[in-house]
Amino acid sequence: MKKILITGGVGFIGSHVTISLLEKNYDVVIIDSFLNSSKSFYLRMIELINSINPLFKKNLHLYEGDIRNSHFLEKIFLDAKKENKLIEGVIHLAGLKSVKESVNFPLNYWNCNLIGAIRLLEAMDKFNCHCLIFSSSATIYGKNQNLLINEISNINPINPYGFTKATIEFMLQNLFESDKQKWQIANLRYFNPIGAHSSGLIGENPKGMPNNVFPLINKVASREIKKLKIFGNDWNTNDGTCIRDFIHIMDLADGHIMALEYFLNMKNSKFLNLNLGTGKPTSVLELVKTFQKINNVEVPYDFVNRREGDVDRIVADNELAKKTLNWEPKRKISDMCSDGWKWHSNIKNFC
Ligand code: NAD
Ligand code: UD1
Repeated sequence: MKKILITGGVGFIGSHVTISLLEKNYDVVIIDSFLNSSKSFYLRMIELINSINPLFKKNLHLYEGDIRNSHFLEKIFLDAKKENKLIEGVIHLAGLKSVKESVNFPLNYWNCNLIGAIRLLEAMDKFNCHCLIFSSSATIYGKNQNLLINEISNINPINPYGFTKATIEFMLQNLFESDKQKWQIANLRYFNPIGAHSSGLIGENPKGMPNNVFPLINKVASREIKKLKIFGNDWNTNDGTCIRDFIHIMDLADGHIMALEYFLNMKNSKFLNLNLGTGKPTSVLELVKTFQKINNVEVPYDFVNRREGDVDRIVADNELAKKTLNWEPKRKISDMCSDGWKWHSNIKNFC
C-alpha cells in the first residue's frame, strides 16, 4: 500500500481527492491548518469513509499544522520513514485561493502560497520524495483570445493570486531542469470545479461569504441570499452572460489520482502542465437554469454591471490531459447541480 501526502486535504478539493485515494487503497497522510476548513468537516469525511468501508479509516492520518513550518513537515516525513513506509508522492493543495482577497492582501498570498511551496519542496527533497502533483489554476492564462485554451497558451496572470500560481509553476520548472533525472512534477490547471460528492456528505464549505458563482447559487436557492447578481448580460456570448468550463469535483479528483498513478507507474522523471476542464462551454445563465430545473428550486437573479477582471469566456482544451492520463471527465452540468445542492441542503445539519 503506497503512502501519499496531501496538503490541504480537508479543503474542498482535498477532501474529495482524499476519499478517492482511500477508495483506491492508498495510505493517506493529510496536512491541514484548518485555515479555510474545520474539524467538524473532517469528521464528515470520516463519516463518509465509514459509510464506504470502515476499514479505510485506518489508512487515513491527519497532521494539524502549517506547511510553512519546516520542523513540522520534516516530522511527518520522518514518522513515515520510522514506520518503514516512505511517502511516495505529494498532492499539494494547501494555499489561499480568493482573487479578491489577494488584491487586498498580496503579501499574505505570496507568503502562504510561495513560501508554503518552497518549504514543502525542501522537505520532499530532503526525504527523497520527488513526485509532486501541484494545484495550479486556469487563472494563470488571464485574458486569452483563443476559443479553447491549451497548455502552450500565454501565461498572463492578472491578479496576485494568479501570479503566485504562475510563479510556483516557473519555480517547479527550474527545479525540474536543475536535475532532469530527479523530479516528477505535474501542474494541474483547474478550470471551474463545482458540485460535491454524490453522497451529499462532503462538498464546498468556505469560511465567510463566497465570491464564486456556484456556492452563491446554492445560497440563493436556500434563501440565505435574496438574489444572485449576474455580472453582465452584454458579453459577446450567446445569451450575453460569461462562459466558463465547469467541472465536477469528482472528475477533478479522478484527474489527480490518474496523474499520480501515471507517475508512480512510470518511474522516470517528467514535467507536465495539464488542463483539467471538460472542454465544454456553459454560460452563467445556463448554469442557473439547469440548477433550477434539476433541483426544482427558485434562483432569483438580477443582471448587474460586469465584474472587474472577468473575461467573457474561458474553456479548456483538455486533449493533452485526456491523452496523457487516459482521463475523461464523465459528469454533466446537471450532475454538478444536483450533487452540489444535495450537499448544500445538508450543510446546516452539521455547522
Ligand atoms: P480550500 O481553501 O477549500 O482548501 C485548502 C485547504 O488548505 C484548506 O483546508 C486550508 O485550511 C488549508 N491550508 C491553507 N493554507 C495552509 C497552510 N499554509 N498550511 C496548511 N494548510 C493550509 O481550497 P480548494 O478549493 O480545495 O483549493 C485547493 C487548491 O487548489 C488551492 O491551492 C487553490 O488555489 C487551488 N485551486 C482551486 C480552485 C477552485 O476553484 N477551488 C481553482 C484553481 C486552483
Ligand atoms: C474565479 C477566479 C479564478 C479562480 C476561480 C476558482 C476571478 C476573476 N477569477 O474564476 O482565478 O481560479 O474563481 O476559484 O475571480 N459570477 C456572477 N455572479 C457572482 C459570481 C460570479 O455572475 O456573484 C460570474 C462571473 O462573472 C463569472 C462566472 O460567474 O463569469 C464564474 O465566476 P467565479 O465562480 O467567480 O469563477 P471565475 O471568475 O471563472
